[in-house]
Amino acid sequence: MSKTRVLTGITTSGTPHLGNYVGAIRPAIAASRAPDAESFYFLADYHALVKVADPARVQRSTLEIAAAWLACGLDPARVWFYRQSDIPEIPELTWLLTCVAGKGLLNRAHAYKAAVDRNRAEALDDDAGITAGLFMYPVLMAADILLFNAHKVPVGRDQVQHIEMARDFGQRFNHLYGEHFTLPEAVIEEQVATLPGLDGRKMSKSYDNTIPLFAPRAELKKLIAGIVTDSRAPGEAKDTEGSALFQLYQAFASKEETAAFAQAYADGISWGDAKAKLLERIDVEVAPLRDRYESLISQPTEIESILRDGAARLRARYATPFLAQLREAVGLRDLSKAAMVGSKSSAPKAAALPAFKQYREADGKFYFKFAQGERLLLQSAGFDSPRDAGQRIAAIKGGHYDPSDPQVLRASGVDENEVQAALAALAEAEAS
Ligand code: TRP
Repeated sequence: MSKTRVLTGITTSGTPHLGNYVGAIRPAIAASRAPDAESFYFLADYHALVKVADPARVQRSTLEIAAAWLACGLDPARVWFYRQSDIPEIPELTWLLTCVAGKGLLNRAHAYKAAVDRNRAEALDDDAGITAGLFMYPVLMAADILLFNAHKVPVGRDQVQHIEMARDFGQRFNHLYGEHFTLPEAVIEEQVATLPGLDGRKMSKSYDNTIPLFAPRAELKKLIAGIVTDSRAPGEAKDTEGSALFQLYQAFASKEETAAFAQAYADGISWGDAKAKLLERIDVEVAPLRDRYESLISQPTEIESILRDGAARLRARYATPFLAQLREAVGLRDLSKAAMVGSKSSAPKAAALPAFKQYREADGKFYFKFAQGERLLLQSAGFDSPRDAGQRIAAIKGGHYDPSDPQVLRASGVDENEVQAALAALAEAEAS
């Protein structure tokens, strides 16, 4: 039985926070324990460069995030754990995907659109200050996912569009070059997909409203005290709806605990008491992880070698051979080998079948084309009747293709062999 491949990455641009833990690390590690899962966890340090031009911060963040995942129970002997920049096949695949990615689709990416909107609001040029890195972010992410043919990608809701784009790029590539990529699906933990931050907006380093996952207890307490609430007094019933504090609690609590907390809201618990309960609930889960984290972070050499080892094994097992296959598929080939039509052996099943198409032009004449997918092979001159055109098609299909026929011209760049190969493929498909 083949396993479900689950893949997720965290951008190494900050210190791991509760939102990362609840939205990505915790569900991904839980999923990795399923016996039928093959899991891939990685540090998206190339993605970090899109946002951060501070080398020390990228390095520090990479160390912290690696230590966090290990502290949270990741077992590098059971799952693939690696750093994106240790896999050169990822940027290489990024280029192959760039060449099939629709620019119009990238124009609609939320992060890019938001940046354009901010520029417009300030009456600046649409693309002022926007790097091509930000624009291409979804393509790099698609390469992360498609390189390992991941089935499932646990992400926050804000990343769902990126997974859809990865599907789109993968599909286009498959259409052009044969069935190489598995199309991934986003997995969102419905209940706690995005965690609110201190100010009630989504917890995110870009809003500066995060609670660090491994803040010492005293700092955790201080941060929780700063969570925004409304001004209801102790004894007054409180709304769970829209309460950041409640949502944070829910992300850590069981169903029963959450129900009891909702009851306490209805009964008018004071915000101070509610915050004390939240602190306890988080600390019960996090304190043991924090101890492991502290000890790991003091051994960076150990973490470095875990990451390198993961990447080396992963490249040998998947990335290097798969990229060789993809290079072959797109035509980045050994020149000493005879030119092949279309894609290599793994591809033809999915490659579009060649076909004849008849049509009439404005000049009243009847034409036909012979094409394979989007590649035009033959183009006829105008015939006086559809019957004449049809008879010529029948003759060609019947093995009487005449390369010097003035009424049936090869498209530019198409040679006789390619036409013959496509005719043979069509005949074979029609026979079976
Ligand atoms: N863009 C993701 C984020 O900001 C991080 C990421 C990069 C990722 N590559 C990925 C997540 C591939 C899942 C799969 O959270």
